[in-house]
Amino acid sequence: MIPPKGLWRRIIITMLIVIVPLSLGMIFTYDVIKLNWRSTMEIQPSFRAQEGPRLALAAEAVRFDGSSLPKDGELPPNPVPADPVSLARGQQLYASHCALCHGPDGKGNGPISQSFKADARKPANLTEPRLAQQSDGALYVTISQGFGQMPALGENVDVRSRWDLVNYVRGFSKK
Ligand code: HEC
Repeated sequence: MIPPKGLWRRIIITMLIVIVPLSLGMIFTYDVIKLNWRSTMEIQPSFRAQEGPRLALAAEAVRFDGSSLPKDGELPPNPVPADPVSLARGQQLYASHCALCHGPDGKGNGPISQSFKADARKPANLTEPRLAQQSDGALYVTISQGFGQMPALGENVDVRSRWDLVNYVRGFSKK
């Protein structure tokens, strides 16, 4: 069927008469008549913080289930093997956190050691054999809590990194 002349015009005019007041009405009443337009990214399947399911850890990940500091008097066992990765990390961490006091070779002669008062205890010489006698856990506590004049570095260095430091510093006294 061929539409009679003027039909399209009538359809368009009728639609304008309906649509224009409707849209104008919606502009002024959008706050009252609420249409649930799903247009924001917020409304989509997603997980909130701390909400499951949690992804499983990599099989070779090192577990740190306990607190970062042992209970009084207990020295924690070293959970990080002294492999090349740990030693390489330890070396970098040592350069940025320890070398300024203990010196690049651990001899206790870093630039800041010059500024210690004459009668103050100076940064320890980490190549001393007495440090080889200390357990990894004892070194870990020294780094975490500080020791005498040495500041506690636990806040600046996370748990895994502290063990990397222990592994690296071990090398000074065991050579
Ligand atoms: C601001 C300077 C400073 C920094 C930084 C520093 N130390 Fe020390 N450290 C000292 C001083 C001083 C002593 C000696 C404290 C004492 O004998 O009273 C010491 C002692 C030590 C000892 C010997 C503890 C003992 O039982 O005799 C170890 C081990 C040690 N530091 C490791 C580290 C490591 C590892 C780092 C880096 C993570 C580090 N230190 C960063 C100043 C520093």
